[in-house]
Amino acid sequence: MKVLTEPFRIKMVEPIKMTDEPYRKMALQNAGFNPFLLSSDDVFIDLMTDSGTSAMSQNQWAAIMIADESYAGAKSWTRLEKVVKDLTSMPFILPTHQGRAAERIIYGLLGGKGKVFLANSHFDTTRANIEFTGARAIDLMPEESLDSFKYLPFKGNIDLDKLEIAILEIGAPNIGAIIITVTNNSSGGQPVSMANVKAVRALCSKHGILLILDGCRIAENSYFIKQREAEYSQWSYKDIAKEMLSLADIFVMSAKKDGLVNMGGLLCLRNEELNQKCVNQLIISEGFTTYGGLSGRDMEAIAVGLEEVFESDYLEYRIRSTAYLGEKLKEIGIPVIWPIGGHAVYIDAKKLFPKIPIEQFPGQRLVCELYTVGGVRSVELGSVMFGKNDSSGSLIPASQELVRLAIPRRVYTQSHIDYVVEVFENIKELTTAEKGFKIIYEPPFLRHFTARFEKLYS
Ligand code: F0G
Repeated sequence: MKVLTEPFRIKMVEPIKMTDEPYRKMALQNAGFNPFLLSSDDVFIDLMTDSGTSAMSQNQWAAIMIADESYAGAKSWTRLEKVVKDLTSMPFILPTHQGRAAERIIYGLLGGKGKVFLANSHFDTTRANIEFTGARAIDLMPEESLDSFKYLPFKGNIDLDKLEIAILEIGAPNIGAIIITVTNNSSGGQPVSMANVKAVRALCSKHGILLILDGCRIAENSYFIKQREAEYSQWSYKDIAKEMLSLADIFVMSAKKDGLVNMGGLLCLRNEELNQKCVNQLIISEGFTTYGGLSGRDMEAIAVGLEEVFESDYLEYRIRSTAYLGEKLKEIGIPVIWPIGGHAVYIDAKKLFPKIPIEQFPGQRLVCELYTVGGVRSVELGSVMFGKNDSSGSLIPASQELVRLAIPRRVYTQSHIDYVVEVFENIKELTTAEKGFKIIYEPPFLRHFTARFEKLYS
């Protein structure tokens, strides 16, 4: 069969408000032209993130009903801990309220002035948590992966040559950790191969450096490994994830992605001494070790979600439906990052709007047009999110000007996605646009969340 069908049927529905273009223009202006500041009620199709936006299954909701909300030693914790220990083979499992809480704890302990972290690409919260400690975060992507349109099976890989050089230049004792993010969110949602992680493991062991796996989309990454890395074609998705996790010293996970839940995170470790330090931080800021920042209900839902996410019917539908959107957009001439990643379609906004200067944020123009024309909310992953100002206030741009359409898990149907394609049909004629936006307010960290903009076109 050629038609892509959702492997579920709908038992409960959530109405969406329909709005028109004049209404959306006003809403966007009131939000300072920053879609993060829109009310979700004013959004028709919300592709801002796949994080915490999953629809839960009947089994997850059923588990929620039997959750144990005890402060200490809750049964729901025991259940979650067992699932995560089995998956990670790590002896120390800490629950956190979301991924960045785990990041704050671990990078707070490993970071500090003079330390350097090396990664394929640091996600924004990862970078912020590292830099907040005074440490540096360096991305080491292969040059060829920065070519938006070149097909590479594992475009999320870290550059092993650059990594070796960086280790020698920086010196192993100054390296806080090497971080591999799967899939590579900041760089197109592209997968990382098992061979790449194995090679990084070998370098870490040789130089005595910790390997951290940020695996919030590890099931999606496993799908690509099974399809594209011959050695694993007969493995189950879960066994592939287990194999990758067996290579890491530390696992950081935002359960809001492949945990198929709305809230939750995990920090898992092998080293007892480091675990003890993390436990102290956890208790001060998140909660006791058997709930972290989570309710028993959250922990039950994650325990079930982490099993469901590896089911082949689900995972195949998931990756195929993301590719469906990307392939349709490519067909109508939209410059999408190729191949399509796991959780999102990324558009090269610099190529779509070649005349808009980077200082005027072409990606911001695209996210604003998508909202105005169709009520579609997306997110800029370019110089608004990753750019910096030098001491004279000039922009140091990001390496790419991307816009992400992230697909919430099990939420939208194919007709919603066809509608998004139609919105792009209407935006195509704007590609001669010459102007974008100017930032009129920005906070010192993670500026994209609360920045406000002035529109430079009419
Ligand atoms: N690491 C990666 C690779 C992520 O994509 C995210 C979140 C985090 C860590 C932090 O997790 O949100 O639970 O605190 N990514 C979301 C996104 C926000 O939209 O891609 P969190």
